[in-house]
Amino acid sequence: MNKEQEMGASLLHWYDFNARILPWRADKNPYRIWISEIMLQQTRVEAVKPYFDRFMKELPDVNALATVDDDKLMKLWEGLGYYNRARNLKIAANEILENYNGKIPASYDELISLKGIGMYTAGAIASIAFNISVPAVDGNVLRVMARVLGDDSDILKDKTKKGMAKKIVPMIPADRPGDFNQALIELGATVCIPNGEPLCDQCPWDTVCTAYKEDLTGLLPVKTKKKERRIEHKIVFIFETEDQILIHKRGKKGLLAGLWEFPNIEGTGIEEEIKDYLKKYELEDVGYEFTHNGIHIFSHIEWHMKGVKIFLEKPKPMKDMLWIPKKDMERIYAIPSAFELFRNSVKN
Ligand code: ADE
Repeated sequence: MNKEQEMGASLLHWYDFNARILPWRADKNPYRIWISEIMLQQTRVEAVKPYFDRFMKELPDVNALATVDDDKLMKLWEGLGYYNRARNLKIAANEILENYNGKIPASYDELISLKGIGMYTAGAIASIAFNISVPAVDGNVLRVMARVLGDDSDILKDKTKKGMAKKIVPMIPADRPGDFNQALIELGATVCIPNGEPLCDQCPWDTVCTAYKEDLTGLLPVKTKKKERRIEHKIVFIFETEDQILIHKRGKKGLLAGLWEFPNIEGTGIEEEIKDYLKKYELEDVGYEFTHNGIHIFSHIEWHMKGVKIFLEKPKPMKDMLWIPKKDMERIYAIPSAFELFRNSVKN
């Protein structure tokens, strides 16, 4: 065995004793692997678990996903964030029905051609579900590799990712590529961790790791600083009657596209802004009260929100808005986490 093969073997040996038992690892069903890998992008394992189980119950196969009602799909994704992931899943399911007879294709090139599947996900599905020897390089893997190799290239650059992928290929054991890729992710998630001290005394690669030997784990990996998030101030209106609440469907494009929200406008919450808005709906004489202030952080934007509650005796029809029974809010309408504070404040 050469050095790379030995590293592959020692990592697999470690994985055999340390792999977490996770719902999507129970079998090699390509559909389950695909959905789990999409959910796991940007989202922690513990957060994904309940969503994954519910999704599988409701939409157990490609056919069910391809034909699901959009509102139901959003409801199943509610709280996971990055909602385009779910929309792309449905588009890809339709591509699979049309072009591959409903069977998820067993090839890296065909997988990567599907909507929402990039290099990482194609590598993960190809290796885990179909035993194809390709790397799957996510943020965990980049961190591990940067430390092991003592490589200070910027891991957010595509060039670095491709370079790391090339260096991983000779480590992949031909008989267990999927386990190898998951082992590398697992090492990054549980030992070679992103925040705080890595647990180097538990690492199967301590003897080959440059960062460990040279005490560089605090300096690697190198990531260029992201641009600062833009702050948007919003006034969020909770219009309610005894048993109904007013919601609005967001536009088809942009942040949280197509999801339901409480009516809101740009503004810091000064009286003039609120009065002007209420006037639009001939409600200038109605009283209002401030409720909660909330901050929600997206990847590129922060919303700083001020809640304003308006109680009406009966529902007033308002353009582009929908009055719904409060009791249906949780069950039917996907209202993203950004509004959770306000959602929770509405009593049924
Ligand atoms: N993160 C991304 N893919 C994963 C997997 N298959 N298991 C655990 N964590 C992951």
